[in-house]
Amino acid sequence: MRKGLVAANWKMNGLRQSNATLIDVLKAGLKSSPNVEVLVCPPAVYLEQVGAELDGSLVMLGAQNLHPQQSGAFTGELSAEMLKDIGCSHVIIGHSERRQLFGEENSFIAEKFTAAQRSGLIPILCVGETQEQREAVETEAVVLDQLEAVLVHAGIEAFNNAVIAYEPVWAIGTGLTATPEQAQVVHALIRGKLAEANTAVAESTRILYGGSVKGSNAAELFAKPDIDGGLVGGASLVAEGFLSICNSYSE
Ligand code: 13P
Repeated sequence: MRKGLVAANWKMNGLRQSNATLIDVLKAGLKSSPNVEVLVCPPAVYLEQVGAELDGSLVMLGAQNLHPQQSGAFTGELSAEMLKDIGCSHVIIGHSERRQLFGEENSFIAEKFTAAQRSGLIPILCVGETQEQREAVETEAVVLDQLEAVLVHAGIEAFNNAVIAYEPVWAIGTGLTATPEQAQVVHALIRGKLAEANTAVAESTRILYGGSVKGSNAAELFAKPDIDGGLVGGASLVAEGFLSICNSYSE
């Protein structure tokens, strides 16, 4: 039985004051459940603040990005070692905003994936198709291609310490959620791909859904057999919204 994971991706949002308030309300409102883990990924500059506020709670801390090199002349970048040093357990890799806005390609994302694991971080590998790709019936090819790049580079065993997030680009920040059925089809495809290499790894790997997850749709998404939680953007910035997503898991 896979334990659920609900992860908040704050993206480039938050300031010291609002972060403190959000975390306070989260800590007070989260119902403890053996069925789900909760992770918060604030902007890098606030990792230390949010980490301190989360101290003593069960909520985990994650980063939104890293650079694959360990150190050196990479102005403005952060290494996996630094993120681990500051208390992160997870890091988001290959988010569609990084792929689209910052030109990150599969090979670079695969390097980030292994760099994260080398430093003891759990990568959350994001995959997903655009609207045009879905309309052109390319969803399967695109998602498998994104997954394959990391599988070839890191090997199937690496997925023992990784999370995958299926985030259809057309559902991100648009209010258009994939239906639970649409999402389940792609989640099953991803698990099937892992199973071709190793069925035990496929069965234990958590696959999150991301894209306009909110309190009102979380429970039916999470009820699907291959959806093991959510990667939540907009709704994670409002404490009540994020709490209802997390708590819907335990109900
Ligand atoms: P929204 O929940 O705002 O659609 O964002 C999803 C996302 O990109 C999480 O990484």
